[in-house]
Amino acid sequence: MTALGKLIRTTTFKLTLVYLSIFALFAIFLLGYFTWNTQRLINQQITETVDAEISGFAEQFRQGGIRKLVQSVDSHSRRATSSLYLVTTFSGETLGGNVSSLSPGVLDNVGWAETLYRRPDEGESTEGRALVRVVQLPGGFRLLVGRDLEEERRLRAIILEAGRWLIGLVIVLGLAGGIFATRRVLKRVDAMTETTKAIMAGDLSGRLAISGTGDELDRLATHLNTMFDRIELLMRGLKEVSDNIAHDLKTPLTRLQNRCEEALRHTQNEAGYRATLEATIEESEGLIRTFNALLMIARAESGQARDNMVAVDASEIARGVGELYEPLADDKGLELIVEAPAPALVNGNRELISQALANLVDNAIKYARQEPHALNGERAQIKVSANQRGDRIELAVADHGPGIPESDRRRVVERFVRLERSRSEPGSGLGLSLASAVAHLHHGELQLLDNAPGLKATLTLPRAPLALPAESSAPERSPNPVPVTL
Ligand SMILES: Nc1ncnc2c1ncn2[C@@H]1O[C@H](COP(=O)(O)OP(=O)(O)O)[C@@H](O)[C@H]1O
Ligand SMILES: [Mg+2]
Repeated sequence: MTALGKLIRTTTFKLTLVYLSIFALFAIFLLGYFTWNTQRLINQQITETVDAEISGFAEQFRQGGIRKLVQSVDSHSRRATSSLYLVTTFSGETLGGNVSSLSPGVLDNVGWAETLYRRPDEGESTEGRALVRVVQLPGGFRLLVGRDLEEERRLRAIILEAGRWLIGLVIVLGLAGGIFATRRVLKRVDAMTETTKAIMAGDLSGRLAISGTGDELDRLATHLNTMFDRIELLMRGLKEVSDNIAHDLKTPLTRLQNRCEEALRHTQNEAGYRATLEATIEESEGLIRTFNALLMIARAESGQARDNMVAVDASEIARGVGELYEPLADDKGLELIVEAPAPALVNGNRELISQALANLVDNAIKYARQEPHALNGERAQIKVSANQRGDRIELAVADHGPGIPESDRRRVVERFVRLERSRSEPGSGLGLSLASAVAHLHHGELQLLDNAPGLKATLTLPRAPLALPAESSAPERSPNPVPVTL
C-alpha cells in the first residue's frame, strides 16, 4: 500500500474529511444566509426611500400640477447620483428626469420592476440595472422613481469573493491539519506494529514506546505492555519448568532404565527380579510425587486456585499438620510443638496452605536431625506456630538444625534446587518452591529467616476480611486433606 493510500484509509483521516465537509457546508449555509439577508435589507431600504419620494412628488403634483412636479423631478435628478427619476405623458413622451431609456414595457405597468436603463448624458455602452416603481398620476402622467442596483451587486460580489476564500481556506487548512494529525497517529501506530512484529518474532523483551502525553494510544500501549510483561513472565516460567523437567526428571528415568537393563542382564533368580521391581516402583512413586508437586506448583502459580478461596483458620491447619507429623518427628528424636492459640482466618485454599506448611515441617524434621545436640539425648525442638500480626497471618516453622546460609536463601526457593549437604536425604527440591508459589497465590510471601541456630520459615498471608463467609462449620466439612510428602 502506498503511503498516501495508507494515510487516506486511516480513521483519523476519514474523521477529518467528515468534519471538513460539515464545516464547509456550514460555511456555505452561513454565507448564503448572510447574502440573502443583506440583499433583503438593501431592497427594503430602496423600497422605503422610493415610496417616500413618490409620496413627496405626489404631494407636489397635487399642489402645483404637472409643471411643479417636473420642476421638482428635474431638481432631484441633478442632485442624485444613484437615483432615477422620470415623468412622461400618457403616450410616453419624456417631460423630465434623468433616464433616457428603459427595458421595454416597464412604463406600461404600474408597480415595482427591475429594469435596465441608460442616462441621457452617458454613452451607449453604460447600461445599469435598477429597481423602479411606476405610478400613474391623474391626467395619464406617469412617474417613475428608482434606485440603481450597482451598489447591491458590488456588495454581493464582495461577499461571494470573501466566501470563496473562506471555504478554500477551511478546506486547505482542514486537509493540512488532517494530514498532519493522521501522519502523527500513523507514525506511532507503525512503530507499535513494528514492535509487536519483533515480539511475535520471538524478542519477548520488546515494549511499545509511550509518548508520555497520556492519550488513548499511550493508554493502549501501557495496557499492551502490561500484557507483554505477563506473557514474558509466563513464557520464562514455562521455559524454566521445561528445562527443569528435562534436566531433573531425566536422571531418575535414566536410573530406572539402567536398573531394569541391569536386572535383565545379570539377575538369575526371582528374588533378584523382585528386588529390582520394588526399587522400580519406589523410583516411580518418587517420579509421580515430583510430577504432582510440579502440577500443584503450576496450579498455584497460574492463579486458577483463586476461584475456590474461603475463610480458613490457619491455626487449625497448623494443629492438623502438627498432629500429622508428630509421630515422624518422634521417630527422629525431635519434639514438635504447635503454638496456635487463637483462630487466625486467612482467605485461602485449605488444601494448598496445608501442603505448603507440611513441606516446611517436613524440611524441619528432615534437616534439623543433623544438629549435634539432637543426638546427645536432649530432644531438639521444632516449633510450628500460627499468629496474627496486624492484618497478616503468620504461619511459621522454626527448627534448630543447620539452617540455610543467607547466600542460598533466594536460590533454594527455585524448583529442584537442593543444597549440596542435603543430598543424602530423600527429596525433589520442590517443597519450598510450592510453599512460595502458594504464598504468592494468596498475595503473601515465604520468608526464610535465621533462627540462630536453625531456620525459621514463615508463610505470611493476608488476614481474611471479617465480612468474608467462613468455611462451612466443622461437621459438614470434608475431612482435612492430608498433605503428601514431597
Ligand atoms: N529447615 C531446613 N534446614 C536446613 N536446610 C533446609 C531446610 N529446609 C530446606 N532446606 C534446604 O533447602 C533445600 C530445598 O528444600 P525443598 O525445596 O523442600 O526440597 P527438598 O526438601 O526436597 O530437598 C533443601 O534441599 C535443603 O538443602
Ligand atoms: Mg522439602
